[in-house]
Amino acid sequence: MIRFDKVRVSFDGFTAIPELSLEVEKGEFFTLLGPSGCGKTTALRTLAGFVDPEGGDVYVDGQKVTDLPSDRRQIGMVFQNYALFPSMNVRENIAFGLRVRRTGKAERERLVADIARRVDLTEDQLNKNVTELSGGQQQRVAIARALVLEPKILLLDEPLSNLDAKLRQQLRGELKQLQADVGITTVYVTHDQDEALTMSDRIAVFNKGRIEQVGRPQEIYDRSATEFVCTFIGDSSALSPEFISELNRSGTADLDPSRRCYLRVEKPALTTTLPREPAAAGTISIRGTVSARNYHGLHSRYTVNAHGSELKVLIKETGHPGPQPGDTVHVSLNPAHVLQYQATA
Ligand SMILES: Nc1ncnc2c1ncn2[C@@H]1O[C@H](COP(=O)(O)OP(=O)(O)OP(=O)(O)O)[C@@H](O)[C@H]1O
Ligand SMILES: [Mg+2]
Repeated sequence: MIRFDKVRVSFDGFTAIPELSLEVEKGEFFTLLGPSGCGKTTALRTLAGFVDPEGGDVYVDGQKVTDLPSDRRQIGMVFQNYALFPSMNVRENIAFGLRVRRTGKAERERLVADIARRVDLTEDQLNKNVTELSGGQQQRVAIARALVLEPKILLLDEPLSNLDAKLRQQLRGELKQLQADVGITTVYVTHDQDEALTMSDRIAVFNKGRIEQVGRPQEIYDRSATEFVCTFIGDSSALSPEFISELNRSGTADLDPSRRCYLRVEKPALTTTLPREPAAAGTISIRGTVSARNYHGLHSRYTVNAHGSELKVLIKETGHPGPQPGDTVHVSLNPAHVLQYQATA
C-alpha cells in the first residue's frame, strides 16, 4: 500500500534520513516510534509530499508518488498542534477542504454531518468557534477535517501529545476504534512507547533516521532486535558480566558475559527465603540485597544489588509488607528472558 524505497532526505547538507525502506500494508495502523529528532515527522512529511527526498522513491498503491504534488496524493494529515483555522467555526473548519474542491453545498453538509457523527462531535459543537473547544475536541475536529476528504491514507503526527494523561488514554482507544471502523491505512507518529504498543498493528522503531526494527508490538517488546530497541521500549536492567557469570554458575544458563545483557523489570520474582522449588522450569535464583523500594499503589519497584548489577524488579502489591531496603532477597529469573546484544562501539 505504502512503500518507501531507499528514501534519503537532507536539509542543507544535514542528512535527516540516510536511507529508508519500509512497507505499510492496506488497512494497517502503522506507527513510527522513536526519540525526538530521529526523523519521524520528516518521514511522514515525505510521504505527504511536503518534503522532497534527495534520493529514492515513495509509492502508494504501487504508483510512484515522489513527484506528485501533495494535494494529489489523497493523503490526510493531522498535526500535533491541529493547525485549525481559529477564525472559523468547527463546521467551516471541517468543510474547508471540500470548499477548496468545490463540492456542492448540499453534498458538503451531508459529508460534514456524516463525519461529525463518526468522531462524536455534536451539532452544538459544530457551530462553536474552534477556540471554544477543549484540546480533545479540537483534535477530533482536526481528524474530521482530514477524513472528510476520504483520503486513502491518514497520517497522524503526535496527535495526542498536547493532551493531559487521562484524556490521552481515552482518545487512544477512540482513535484506534475510529481507524478500525473506517478501515483507513494509518501512519501514526509518536515518541510514546506505550501509545505505540497499545495502538499499533506494527511498529517501526526509528533511531537517527534509520529503522532499528519493524514488527508487531509483542515482537518488538519480547524480542527487541537491537540494544537501542531494548532500552527504548519498556523498562529493563542492564546485567553486569559478573551477574551473567553467576547465572551460568548457578544453573543451566549458557549466556555470554561479554555481550550486553538486559532483563525487563517485570520478568524476575523476589522472595525473602530461597524458593525450595523453582517456580518454573529453568528458573534460577540469585541472592541480592534490596537497596530501594518505591511504592506505586498497584505495584512496587525494587532495586536489588546483586553481583555488580542494580536489578530493577517490578512486583505486584499484595497488601502484605514486602522486603525492605537492607533485606537479603532471592531474585528468581529465567535466563531465557535475558536479552543479549553484541556490544557496539
Ligand atoms: N525543515 C528542516 N530544516 C532543517 N532541519 C530539519 C528540518 N526538519 C527537520 N530537520 C531536522 O531533521 C531531524 C529530524 O527531524 P524530525 O522533525 O523529523 O524529527 P522527529 O522524529 O519528528 O522529532 P520530534 O519527536 O521532536 O518531533 C532533526 O535533526 C531536525 O532538526
Ligand atoms: Mg516530529
